[in-house]
Amino acid sequence: MSRGNPAQVKAWAKRRLQTRLARAGYLVSRLDEDSVRYLEPSYNGDVPLPAGAEEALKADNPRLAELRTAYEALTWPAAAPTQWNESFLKKNLSLAWFRGDNAYVWQLRLQRGSADATTYLTLLDVQSRDKLGLLTTLEEDGLFGAWTFTFGDRPPVSRDLLDSVNEINYLDDQIGLSSMEAPTVLDIGAGYGRLAHRMSAALPNLARYDCTDGVAVSTFLCEYYLSYRNVPDSVRVVPLPDVDTLADSYTLVVNVHSFSECSLEAIRWWMDRIGERDVEWLLIVPNTPGVLLSTEADGSRLDFQPDVEGAGYVLVDHRPVFQTDELRELISLDDEFYLFRRSSVADSSSASSASS
Ligand SMILES: C[S@@+](CC[C@H](N)C(=O)[O-])C[C@H]1O[C@@H](n2cnc3c(N)ncnc32)[C@H](O)[C@@H]1O
Repeated sequence: MSRGNPAQVKAWAKRRLQTRLARAGYLVSRLDEDSVRYLEPSYNGDVPLPAGAEEALKADNPRLAELRTAYEALTWPAAAPTQWNESFLKKNLSLAWFRGDNAYVWQLRLQRGSADATTYLTLLDVQSRDKLGLLTTLEEDGLFGAWTFTFGDRPPVSRDLLDSVNEINYLDDQIGLSSMEAPTVLDIGAGYGRLAHRMSAALPNLARYDCTDGVAVSTFLCEYYLSYRNVPDSVRVVPLPDVDTLADSYTLVVNVHSFSECSLEAIRWWMDRIGERDVEWLLIVPNTPGVLLSTEADGSRLDFQPDVEGAGYVLVDHRPVFQTDELRELISLDDEFYLFRRSSVADSSSASSASS
């Protein structure tokens, strides 16, 4: 690790210990250094699966088999998962309950103390910046195993909803996404399509949202989920073998908890794909605070910020995802936004503001 001060590294090491336990399939509600106090199930089965879901979301689904074969035939670094290998997926994913607490969105893991208190504080933090009013327009139905929380008369919320509302408001605040004419987004490592679903419902001006991924099962779930949600035609799932069909330009590339789970070689490969296109903004949410680290096959982690900068991007904003200082202390989630802008545009815009 070439960046990060000792306190950050210590916090990161502690988090990594918790992470390893969580990845072994355990929800660690309280961690006492070397003992797991109690465990909880990994999805909320209160809302039954919709008709046909159990039959479709099976390991032997022919579309999943087709995607797996196509991904396995690729020799590109992005198709060689490090963290997202078969054994990780076996321990961390229940296919039909893909919106539970699992590899895609950690809803209960790593939350010290009570999950409902933490979620409530997170809601207060997110609500304080919800200029677009998305907490009143976007809904959470708890389908596919998502843990939901209801407070007073408020509509239910989930980690999926809160993270998405927070990300969309952040992007609106920073780059004016909601008032742009026909913005376009590429989501690399899109998971089951969480942000595509939310952003396409939140922003009527969105002209295109392309989801891609290096892992076949993620593409399979993304296709299933976005079709189930009946998203507009502007949303597309682009399997990795079809990466050449991506557009020539995007307003924004988003990468939420994804590059952190890829090798440096895969990240460089994706940065090359971005570099081939006209992309002004790049949002990265890493898994490690204060530093952008990859996950290599041997478990080591390498700093990839120089590669992002080397591809012509400059960091224009870096801040905690949850921004109310006193609430963040209690929430104990230390995710951060890293917003990059293509340096040629960033330089010309700072030159013009200096001269005006
Ligand atoms: C923690 S999930 C995050 C999903 C989504 N971005 C979200 O925030 O809901 C990590 C994602 O990275 C994807 N991923 C893993 N290795 C990848 C690779 N080599 N290239 C692209 N995506 C990859 C996984 O398939 C998964 O969709």
